[in-house]
Amino acid sequence: MIGQDISQAKRILDAGDLVAIPTETVYGLAGNALNAVAVASIFETKNRPSFDPLIIHVSSLLEAENYVSDIPAPLRSLAEHFWPGPLTLLLQRKNIIPDIVTSGLDRVAVRVPDHPLTLELLAQLDFPLAAPSANPFGYISPTSPQHVDAQLGTKIAYILDGGKCKVGLESTIVGMEGDEIVIYRLGGLEISEIESLVGKVKVKSHSTSNPQAPGLLESHYAPSKPFLIGNLDELIAKYQSQGVDLAVLSFDKQFDSIPPGNQITLSPRADLKEAAACLFAAMRTLDESNAVVILAELMPESGLGKAINDRLKRAATKG
Ligand code: TXA
Ligand code: MG
Repeated sequence: MIGQDISQAKRILDAGDLVAIPTETVYGLAGNALNAVAVASIFETKNRPSFDPLIIHVSSLLEAENYVSDIPAPLRSLAEHFWPGPLTLLLQRKNIIPDIVTSGLDRVAVRVPDHPLTLELLAQLDFPLAAPSANPFGYISPTSPQHVDAQLGTKIAYILDGGKCKVGLESTIVGMEGDEIVIYRLGGLEISEIESLVGKVKVKSHSTSNPQAPGLLESHYAPSKPFLIGNLDELIAKYQSQGVDLAVLSFDKQFDSIPPGNQITLSPRADLKEAAACLFAAMRTLDESNAVVILAELMPESGLGKAINDRLKRAATKG
């Protein structure tokens, strides 16, 4: 069921069951993070490998302190500036966090999401919410309640309807290694915003397989149809000459040779924020079209363009 009833969401979560929650980044599949059985059912519902740890969501930095033992000064300063917002911090966990949440790792991922309904819900709960993106493992993350309903609707008691996600890309994941500040996943908070506060950071999110963060596996966020990235004029010419039905995902251009229903321009005014907010919905729409192949192009590699390109490359068909 889809609705806006926070009390109903609370009742379901209090009983150890799952609710899909809106955030500014993507919808999450949420359960009581302190209840190992509830957390296990998140993995089962998503078909997610249990070695891939979850982010816990809290209503404030103050509440986060109940679950982590130490917050290094630079990370505290990031939390103070960017929470609520698309920033996840990896922090030393307290024992109250079950192993299943962190896959046994010493650090737990924590964030305060920026959505009024979910912040209100979190404030009413006596526990944090463990929540991965509310999609089957490996598929495109959901940015609307309808996306969640289409794939997991029969498996989740309630979808809290907070409308479309305004950022549209998952949170940026940040932690420390010694004195170094490390970005483990590019996301909705730009590197430049982080660096303007805490200085130079190291970006580690490009590894093809990273056992510390298996959600960063190279193939992820992927549509079901072949998804190819390159120069759109060249790709369109090549596949049209072979008579293949095409769908096209472009940053700011339109193509006369492609039917309007088979192409999506993420931002005609070339605005990366707008492109990020539409990206996952556009990938889903084209995946559901009658095309056989989806062709896409990379964005300018600056600001949010880096995080968008990261998702496009992981979505791309390999080989
Ligand atoms: O924006 C978001 O972050 C969304 C919303 C729902 O909050 N959540 C999200 O969760 O994207 P998920 O599970 O799809 O991605 C979480 C990523 C995974 O790649 C996971 O491996 C990594 O965070 N992660 C979680 N806990 C970790 C930990 N303790 N150490 C290293 N990586 C961790
Ligand atoms: Mg995910």
